[in-house]
Amino acid sequence: MFKETFQRYLTMFEQTLAQLPWEDDVLNQSMYYSLVGGGKRIRPVLALASAETVGGNPELIVPAAVALELIHTYSLIHDDLPAMDNDDYRRGRLSNHKVFGEANAILAGDALLTYAFELLANPQLGQPERQLRIIRDVAIAAGKTGMVGGQVADVAGEGKLLTLNEIEEIHKAKTGALLTASARLGGILAGGTEEQIQALTSYAQALGLAFQIKDDILDVVGDSETLGKPAGSDQRQNKATYVSLLGLKGAEQQLHAQIQAALFALKPFGEEPIFLSDLAYYIEQRQH
Ligand code: IPE
Ligand code: IPE
Ligand code: MG
Ligand code: MG
Ligand code: MG
Repeated sequence: MFKETFQRYLTMFEQTLAQLPWEDDVLNQSMYYSLVGGGKRIRPVLALASAETVGGNPELIVPAAVALELIHTYSLIHDDLPAMDNDDYRRGRLSNHKVFGEANAILAGDALLTYAFELLANPQLGQPERQLRIIRDVAIAAGKTGMVGGQVADVAGEGKLLTLNEIEEIHKAKTGALLTASARLGGILAGGTEEQIQALTSYAQALGLAFQIKDDILDVVGDSETLGKPAGSDQRQNKATYVSLLGLKGAEQQLHAQIQAALFALKPFGEEPIFLSDLAYYIEQRQH
């Protein structure tokens, strides 16, 4: 059931993504190249599932779910640049800057970010008040106190011995914030109650931290082919991660605790949100 539902969300997402007007110039090619390279699509899936969990129709919010993946993809393109993690592979193919050059990679990222807000503000979504709320939410999550702020702290932390609390704050910002905004976006656009939106927020905060802890673990135990990106990148860049501080066992314990917290946060939904529980288990067990 989980697989089928995941696939149903994926299909909605991929169709809308492919139908956007992608022109035949280097900027569009470079944006599209990184978008279609085989990502897991967790953020759009989380948004669509959250919409359905509060009783809405996920079909109606797909362009907003696409916007989340545009922002995420931009963050990956910039994350791989030589000035940041300096990784040559992403989503099973060469990183954007290895194909299109650094200038185009930076600009493709910029254009993905702005295009995302164009989609979020599209009148066709037809919900001005809810749209305004999620636009602000997503901007905060992607920006200086969210993803970008977390990336700055991540780079500043290279080669330093950070405390667990400091690493947790980095992970919540660089990865947790956008995942949290994704769940909220689905809940808000689909007309969820404030209580439902709060439950989705708590769930996704724990899930987001878990997601990055798992990413840290996979960087050590995964292989590059399965990951679609270079394993061992964190150690090469001297990153402060859950594994570098706590070891594999310790990181796995923290991962498990966050997954339990995510599941607990779903309690207000009663027995209903099976998919979101399964998504949490999937994230704990994923191999890429
Ligand atoms: C990788 O994100 C970067 C992190 C925030 C951990 P994903 O693991 O979601 O990457 P894709 O989208 O599947 O390629
Ligand atoms: C990146 O974290 C988080 C982003 C906001 C892109 P990582 O640097 O660990 O992500 P990967 O491992 O390169 O995908
Ligand atoms: Mg990074
Ligand atoms: Mg990286
Ligand atoms: Mg990583």
